[in-house]
Amino acid sequence: MLPKLAFSLLTLLCFAAVIGAQPLDIEQRVKDLLAQMTPQEKAAMLSGSGWMESQPNARLGIPAIKMADGPLGVRNWRGSSAVTNAAATVPVTSTAFPAGIAMAASWDLELVARGARAIAQEVKALGRDMILGPTVNINRVPLWGRNFEGYGEDPYLAARMGVAYIKAVQAEGVIPSVKHFAANNEEFERHRIDETIDERTLHEIYFPAFKAAVEEAGVWVVMSAYNKVNGQYCAENPYLLTETLRKRWGFRGFVVSDWGSTYSTEGTVTAGMDLEMPGGEPMRIWSNKPETQRDGNGAGWLTADKILAAVSAGRVRQEAVDESVRRILRVMFTAGLFDHPHAGGGDIDTAEQRQVARTAANESIVLLKNTGVLPLSAARTPKIAVIGPNAAVARTGGGGSSLVRPKYAIAALDGIKEAAGAHADIVYALGVAMEGEDAAKPAPELRAEAVAVASHSDVAVVVVGNAPKLEGEGFDRKSMDLPAGQDELIEAIAAANKNTIVVVIAGAPVTMTKWIGRVSAVVFAWYGGQEAGHAIGDVLFGAVNPSGKLPVTFPKALQDSPAYGHYPGENLHVEYAEGIYVGYRGFDRHNVEPLFPFGYGLSYTTFEYSGLKIAFPSVSVSVRNSGTRAGAEVVQLYLQPPPSRVDRPVKELKGFSRVMLQPGETKTVSFTLDKAALSYYDAAAHDWVAQPGRFTVLVGASSRDIRATGEFAR
Ligand code: BGC
Repeated sequence: MLPKLAFSLLTLLCFAAVIGAQPLDIEQRVKDLLAQMTPQEKAAMLSGSGWMESQPNARLGIPAIKMADGPLGVRNWRGSSAVTNAAATVPVTSTAFPAGIAMAASWDLELVARGARAIAQEVKALGRDMILGPTVNINRVPLWGRNFEGYGEDPYLAARMGVAYIKAVQAEGVIPSVKHFAANNEEFERHRIDETIDERTLHEIYFPAFKAAVEEAGVWVVMSAYNKVNGQYCAENPYLLTETLRKRWGFRGFVVSDWGSTYSTEGTVTAGMDLEMPGGEPMRIWSNKPETQRDGNGAGWLTADKILAAVSAGRVRQEAVDESVRRILRVMFTAGLFDHPHAGGGDIDTAEQRQVARTAANESIVLLKNTGVLPLSAARTPKIAVIGPNAAVARTGGGGSSLVRPKYAIAALDGIKEAAGAHADIVYALGVAMEGEDAAKPAPELRAEAVAVASHSDVAVVVVGNAPKLEGEGFDRKSMDLPAGQDELIEAIAAANKNTIVVVIAGAPVTMTKWIGRVSAVVFAWYGGQEAGHAIGDVLFGAVNPSGKLPVTFPKALQDSPAYGHYPGENLHVEYAEGIYVGYRGFDRHNVEPLFPFGYGLSYTTFEYSGLKIAFPSVSVSVRNSGTRAGAEVVQLYLQPPPSRVDRPVKELKGFSRVMLQPGETKTVSFTLDKAALSYYDAAAHDWVAQPGRFTVLVGASSRDIRATGEFAR
């Protein structure tokens, strides 16, 4: 037992360390520990001891960092260090929160922080130390299999979301791991693809969320990406890991490799990649599998024997190894792992955590179209047909390492039944099987059944979309279209019932042009986690007024998307030829009309904007709820740069605020701009430059629904 005084001193130091008040104490502790380590012990720390754990050191009392996948909840894991697999029948379950793209659609930073805090608490309750998230990669193409995990197409929005997530996780003493650095924007040949991206585009589009993670949130861990950027693997890319992350942004934490993304000893250590994962026996077994090699994974380059050999051959400097160990220990001390080990055994999926999941699902839903059929009322429309392959099956998330296994999941059908109440008459028909899933009946029979129930109902709710096997990690979607048979199902139902409402459960834009003109309403629900069904019921029946806004542009057709033609690349090489013109920047630039613009989303009420005031750096605007229902509006601020010889986007998001308003209520929303908001990255100067001239402030309800405009000069 420690004497009481020593113990409270330790507690104090540790608390100070967590909040960063006395970094010197941590540096001293790292130094002391490092001085006691043998070269062998140091070398051992550069690779994991298993699938999800770093190397412990019993002699010196260094614990393993116990990791868990995320970022949308704690992905279940089995045993101390086994391969995680959300599809396996294992006893560990945790709360499934809405996908990152859904959280982004809420534009609610406080909510993102609440979600992340709940996730961090579950990490601790399960006896883990580190969550492998958030994912902040940009949605460059609609087909990327992991679009659902991240925060959409805009670097400013992604940065705000990432910072909120990271700060909340770190405040719990849990280690986040912002990923995947950098430009992991396609799954096609993700282990081999070499992306050519110009410097300006990296800094303006693909880096900002990582930069903010480091500079604003002081993130403890960065995960490198699988792909190559400009000819070098991300795990051995000095431009990314040394020049940018450390020298330019001042990152002091450690870099962890993505699982199986290392290809050399010397290049990797020297570039500044500190911890190779996975490691140990699980890594050896896995890396020998034919499919691991076929996919192009690389592993086992930072094992102790390889590090020691490289040091004694003079290919790797001992100081570089020391530095990596120092970074790992620094994070461990900062997170409090030595002083407050996460013993586990706490509650998971508590009532409070479920509530956060439900609020998040509610706020993330985007109402895309409504001719007036919504909100439903069981009194006016007592007979409701609920149809479609995503109606009765809850699709909580996309596929891959982020998929959480929850204790329960509410499907849309259940949520609709609950929201409609006992007096409503709800009839269900599958209509069409999800592509790749079996149905008990032949397709024509399923369709006929659905059409029959739709034609005898007051409204038909068709719940369509994707599924984790069709949209997930490790593969891209083949097309932007809904999976086979769903467009035809919607068309058939719309022909049978004039009050057809389409609910889409998916992680990225889907083609809607075939049927959007023929349906009465479209609700985009993303992958909403375990509470999604409740949230859908809440929104359809008006218990919740929809307030989500698109964090990504919905093109009419895939061909309209700015990176079209420059994806997935040829001969393992892809040119990011659209440069900075990703998402709405590209649609604006080329004057292409999207199906739904970035920032778009309807409400059951209406909002009026007035009184825009600009006194740089302050901007304020008044927003009034001019309708009859309470509702939230996401007020967006875009800046249009002055005309100049520099090629710049028509406008860029530089601020947003989600404001809740009662009917008739007015609130003033304020923004503070800064130099960064005015700047572009000058590749010749290798730096950000704030351009002088007259800037136009565009404030609105979406990127193409600007309600107030003003100017200021700098
Ligand atoms: C994914 C990461 C994940 C890791 C561990 C990789 O395949 O790209 O996002 O954290 O596996 O499961």
